[in-house]
Amino acid sequence: MLDDYLNWERYLITSEVDLPEEYQYQGRLYRLAPADRLYIAGMGGSGVVGDLIRDLSFVWGWPFEAVVVKDYFFRGGDGLMLAVSYSGNTVETITAAAAALRRGMPVIAITTGGKLAEMGIPTIKVPKASAPRAALPQMLTAALWTLRKIYGVNFDTPSSLPYDERLADRLVKTLGARPTIVAPVSMQGLAYRVKNEANENAKLDPSVEVLPEAHHNWIEGASGPIMAMTSPDIPAEHRTRVRLTVDLLSGEVFEVPMTVGGILTFLKHVGIATVKIALARGIDPLKTPRIDELKRRLP
Ligand code: F6R
Repeated sequence: MLDDYLNWERYLITSEVDLPEEYQYQGRLYRLAPADRLYIAGMGGSGVVGDLIRDLSFVWGWPFEAVVVKDYFFRGGDGLMLAVSYSGNTVETITAAAAALRRGMPVIAITTGGKLAEMGIPTIKVPKASAPRAALPQMLTAALWTLRKIYGVNFDTPSSLPYDERLADRLVKTLGARPTIVAPVSMQGLAYRVKNEANENAKLDPSVEVLPEAHHNWIEGASGPIMAMTSPDIPAEHRTRVRLTVDLLSGEVFEVPMTVGGILTFLKHVGIATVKIALARGIDPLKTPRIDELKRRLP
C-alpha cells in the first residue's frame, strides 16, 4: 500500500478520455452535453472524487453546480451524473445511477469493472490499486478529463507529486493525536478525505468541522487538538476564518494549493502518514474488516 502512495504519479491520467456525444440505454437516447448541475455519485474512497470536484469547482468557478450523492436514493432532476465506484459493485452508487437513468439523466461510469461496467453506459475503466482509496489519482483524473471533454474546464495536469519527508512526519504527529480537522467550505472535501484516510488506514477517529458554520457552534465546545487547513487559492473570507480559529484556539496549520497537483501531493503525504501511524500501532493499514463485514451483512 505504501508503494501505491509513493508511486501515485504513475496512475495519473494525462490525456483525453474517449466518450461518445450520445448513447442509447434501454431504448432511450442520452446526450452527453453540459448541464447546470453535475451530480457525482460514489461512496467512501470513490465518493471522495465528488467531494474534491466540489472543492475544485467552487475554487475555480467551474460552470456547473457540483452535487455529491452518497446514498441509494437519487431524487434530483436535470443534470448529468458521474457514477464513481472503484469495484463497480457498491450498491448505493449503482442504485443512484439506475435512478438517474430512469429520470432520463445521462450517466457516465468511472470504475475498474464490476456491475457498473456492465450496465451498458459510457464507462471509463481505470487501473486497479491495492485498495479503492489508493486509486484516487486515476479516479480523480478520469473524472476531470471527462469534465474537460464535456464542459471544457481547465485544470493543471501534474506529472510529479514530490514527496517531502518532513511534511509526512508533521502529519504523523498531527493526525496521530486524533485532531478535529477544521477547514472552510472551499476545502471541505479535502478535509473529509484526510479524516477518511485516518479512519481506514490508521483506524483512528478524528472529526471534521467546517467553517464558517463551526464558528456558530463547535467553537464553544472545542477542546482537543486542531488540524487547520487553508490555501492561498481560497476566498479571503475563508482564509480569515481559519486564521481566527487558530488565533483563538491554536492548532497546526497546513496550507494546500487547491490545484490538482497541490491536492494530490498533499493527499499522498496523508496516505503515507496514515500508513505509518497504522504500522506504529501494529495495525494492518490495508485491511478494513468492519467495512467488509458490513458489506457482507447487507441484504
Ligand atoms: C476505500 C474503501 C471504501 C470503498 C467504499 C466504496 O479504500 O475501501 O471506502 O471505497 O466502500 O466502494 P467502491 O469504492 O468499490 O465503490
